[in-house]
Amino acid sequence: MQSPTSTTPSITPNHSSTQEGEIHGKNIAGLKQVLADTYVLYSKTHGFHWNVTGPLFTSLHALFMEQYNELFEAMDELAERIRVLKVEAPFGPTALSGLSSLSDASASLDAMAMVRELEADHRQLASQCQEALVQAQDVADEGSGDLLTQRLRTHQKTAWKLASLLQ
Ligand SMILES: [Fe+2]
Repeated sequence: MQSPTSTTPSITPNHSSTQEGEIHGKNIAGLKQVLADTYVLYSKTHGFHWNVTGPLFTSLHALFMEQYNELFEAMDELAERIRVLKVEAPFGPTALSGLSSLSDASASLDAMAMVRELEADHRQLASQCQEALVQAQDVADEGSGDLLTQRLRTHQKTAWKLASLLQ
């Protein structure tokens, strides 16, 4: 900790190297968490695209396709950001599902239950992005912060669109 009487200008907190390692680790963990959650939500949204039924089939089938395509591209951005930080990006269904905070869903849900489930997942992912953003800001990792801010905005907007369908 920097002494209150020190005159050394400090833009970033004066962490010890152990603290820096921990903070860097939290930043990476936050990005991996968002990647894993994005993967599970991508997979669920694609499954709902295949299995949705009912009078809203055409519009929900198309809406879910738009959403899973967006999530697929986001996964690539998140994984490549982790690589930019010189860390191996987790991949494969077992590793990513194991890391994710989101639950799997049953294909037998009715259309509105699918919308409700996706809306809750996008809100959950927005909150994971918010946490990861704080970790990125702690290490002044503005590149990750920018990506996480974009992801946060997208998940909030998607949650709003899905919630609007439920009213
Ligand atoms: Fe399709």
